[in-house]
Amino acid sequence: MMNILVIHGPNLNLLGIREPNIYGHESQSDLFSFVESSFPNITFSFFQSNHEGEIIDKLHQTMQFDINDNSIDGIIINPGAFSHYSYAIHDAILSIKIPVIEVHLSDIKNREEFRKKSITKDACIDSISGKGKNGYIMAIKKIMDIV
Ligand code: DQA
Repeated sequence: MMNILVIHGPNLNLLGIREPNIYGHESQSDLFSFVESSFPNITFSFFQSNHEGEIIDKLHQTMQFDINDNSIDGIIINPGAFSHYSYAIHDAILSIKIPVIEVHLSDIKNREEFRKKSITKDACIDSISGKGKNGYIMAIKKIMDIV
Protein backbone atom coordinates (compact mmCIF):
# COMPACT_ATOMS: atom_id res chain seq x y z
CA MET A 1 0.00 0.00 0.00
CA MET A 2 1.37 3.38 -0.99
CA ASN A 3 1.59 6.08 1.72
CA ILE A 4 1.10 9.70 0.75
CA LEU A 5 1.37 12.68 3.05
CA VAL A 6 -0.60 15.84 2.25
CA ILE A 7 0.76 19.00 3.89
CA HIS A 8 -1.20 22.24 4.10
CA GLY A 9 0.33 25.55 5.09
CA PRO A 10 -1.14 28.67 6.70
CA ASN A 11 -4.79 29.68 6.42
CA LEU A 12 -5.78 26.52 4.57
CA ASN A 13 -7.53 25.38 7.76
CA LEU A 14 -10.04 28.13 6.90
CA LEU A 15 -10.99 26.73 3.49
CA GLY A 16 -14.71 27.19 2.93
CA ILE A 17 -14.80 30.35 5.05
CA ARG A 18 -11.81 32.16 3.67
CA GLU A 19 -12.28 34.10 0.41
CA PRO A 20 -14.76 31.56 -1.02
CA ASN A 21 -14.81 33.43 -4.34
CA ILE A 22 -11.18 32.29 -4.78
CA TYR A 23 -10.91 29.07 -2.79
CA GLY A 24 -14.48 27.74 -2.98
CA HIS A 25 -17.04 26.76 -0.37
CA GLU A 26 -15.64 23.38 0.60
CA SER A 27 -13.82 23.00 3.89
CA GLN A 28 -10.36 21.55 4.34
CA SER A 29 -11.86 18.33 5.68
CA ASP A 30 -14.15 18.14 2.61
CA LEU A 31 -11.04 18.43 0.46
CA PHE A 32 -9.15 15.78 2.44
CA SER A 33 -12.16 13.40 2.27
CA PHE A 34 -12.38 13.96 -1.49
CA VAL A 35 -8.70 13.08 -1.89
CA GLU A 36 -8.96 10.02 0.34
CA SER A 37 -12.09 8.65 -1.34
CA SER A 38 -10.59 9.19 -4.81
CA PHE A 39 -7.78 6.69 -4.08
CA PRO A 40 -9.07 3.81 -1.93
CA ASN A 41 -5.79 1.92 -2.39
CA ILE A 42 -3.59 4.66 -0.97
CA THR A 43 -3.05 5.36 2.71
CA PHE A 44 -3.09 9.09 3.35
CA SER A 45 -1.93 11.20 6.22
CA PHE A 46 -2.90 14.86 6.39
CA PHE A 47 -1.12 17.67 8.21
CA GLN A 48 -1.93 21.38 8.41
CA SER A 49 0.02 24.05 10.20
CA ASN A 50 0.12 27.81 10.30
CA HIS A 51 3.75 27.64 11.46
CA GLU A 52 6.73 27.42 9.16
CA GLY A 53 8.89 25.42 11.60
CA GLU A 54 6.17 22.81 12.14
CA ILE A 55 5.97 22.23 8.40
CA ILE A 56 9.76 21.83 8.27
CA ASP A 57 9.67 19.39 11.21
CA LYS A 58 6.96 17.37 9.45
CA LEU A 59 9.05 17.18 6.27
CA HIS A 60 12.06 16.00 8.29
CA GLN A 61 9.98 13.35 10.09
CA THR A 62 9.22 11.65 6.78
CA MET A 63 12.82 10.44 6.74
CA GLN A 64 12.16 8.25 9.76
CA PHE A 65 11.17 4.68 9.05
CA ASP A 66 9.15 2.61 11.44
CA ILE A 67 9.39 -1.13 12.05
CA ASN A 68 6.47 -1.85 9.70
CA ASP A 69 8.02 0.28 6.98
CA ASN A 70 5.11 2.69 6.96
CA SER A 71 7.40 5.09 5.17
CA ILE A 72 6.03 7.96 3.12
CA ASP A 73 6.29 7.37 -0.64
CA GLY A 74 5.34 10.84 -1.76
CA ILE A 75 4.26 14.25 -0.50
CA ILE A 76 1.70 16.70 -1.83
CA ILE A 77 2.27 20.15 -0.39
CA ASN A 78 0.24 23.31 -0.59
CA PRO A 79 2.47 25.68 1.38
CA GLY A 80 -0.04 28.57 1.16
CA ALA A 81 1.67 31.95 1.26
CA PHE A 82 4.93 30.35 2.46
CA SER A 83 5.35 29.32 -1.19
CA HIS A 84 6.23 32.85 -2.07
CA TYR A 85 8.99 33.49 0.46
CA SER A 86 10.04 30.46 2.50
CA TYR A 87 13.59 29.51 1.58
CA ALA A 88 13.55 27.34 4.70
CA ILE A 89 10.70 25.16 3.40
CA HIS A 90 12.41 25.12 -0.01
CA ASP A 91 15.59 23.78 1.63
CA ALA A 92 13.67 21.25 3.75
CA ILE A 93 12.04 19.82 0.62
CA LEU A 94 15.47 19.52 -1.00
CA SER A 95 16.84 17.82 2.12
CA ILE A 96 14.51 14.85 1.98
CA LYS A 97 14.68 12.14 -0.63
CA ILE A 98 10.93 11.70 -1.06
CA PRO A 99 9.25 13.15 -4.18
CA VAL A 100 7.26 16.30 -3.42
CA ILE A 101 4.70 17.95 -5.69
CA GLU A 102 3.35 21.43 -4.98
CA VAL A 103 -0.34 22.21 -5.46
CA HIS A 104 -2.22 25.51 -5.38
CA LEU A 105 -5.98 25.68 -5.58
CA SER A 106 -5.90 29.07 -7.29
CA ASP A 107 -3.95 30.09 -10.36
CA ILE A 108 -1.05 31.89 -8.69
CA LYS A 109 0.26 33.11 -12.05
CA ASN A 110 -2.88 35.17 -12.62
CA ARG A 111 -3.26 36.89 -9.29
CA GLU A 112 -1.31 39.57 -7.43
CA GLU A 113 2.30 40.13 -8.43
CA PHE A 114 3.73 38.68 -5.20
CA ARG A 115 2.05 35.32 -5.83
CA LYS A 116 3.52 34.82 -9.28
CA LYS A 117 6.80 33.42 -7.98
CA SER A 118 6.85 30.22 -5.93
CA ILE A 119 10.13 29.72 -4.11
CA THR A 120 9.15 26.29 -2.78
CA LYS A 121 8.11 24.99 -6.21
CA ASP A 122 11.73 25.07 -7.34
CA ALA A 123 12.53 22.32 -4.83
CA CYS A 124 9.61 20.12 -5.95
CA ILE A 125 9.57 17.67 -8.81
CA ASP A 126 6.45 19.30 -10.23
CA SER A 127 3.70 21.81 -9.44
CA ILE A 128 0.05 22.27 -10.31
CA SER A 129 -1.82 25.51 -9.88
CA GLY A 130 -5.32 26.78 -10.67
CA LYS A 131 -7.10 23.42 -10.95
CA GLY A 132 -8.90 23.58 -7.61
CA LYS A 133 -9.25 20.30 -5.76
CA ASN A 134 -8.58 18.34 -8.96
CA GLY A 135 -5.02 19.62 -8.77
CA TYR A 136 -4.53 17.29 -5.78
CA ILE A 137 -5.79 14.33 -7.82
CA MET A 138 -3.47 15.21 -10.70
CA ALA A 139 -0.53 15.52 -8.32
CA ILE A 140 -1.21 12.14 -6.69
CA LYS A 141 -1.41 10.48 -10.12
CA LYS A 142 1.98 11.97 -10.96
CA ILE A 143 3.43 10.57 -7.73
CA MET A 144 1.96 7.16 -8.57
CA ASP A 145 3.64 7.27 -11.99
CA ILE A 146 7.09 7.86 -10.60
CA VAL A 147 7.13 5.83 -7.36
C1 DQA B 1 -2.70 29.13 -2.27
C2 DQA B 1 -2.16 30.36 -3.01
C3 DQA B 1 -1.32 31.21 -2.08
O1 DQA B 1 -0.86 32.37 -2.76
C4 DQA B 1 -2.14 31.65 -0.89
O2 DQA B 1 -1.34 32.40 0.01
C5 DQA B 1 -2.80 30.53 -0.20
C6 DQA B 1 -3.45 29.51 -1.01
C7 DQA B 1 -3.64 28.29 -3.17
O3 DQA B 1 -3.89 27.15 -2.83
O4 DQA B 1 -4.14 28.80 -4.16
O5 DQA B 1 -2.88 30.49 1.02
O6 DQA B 1 -1.60 28.31 -1.91
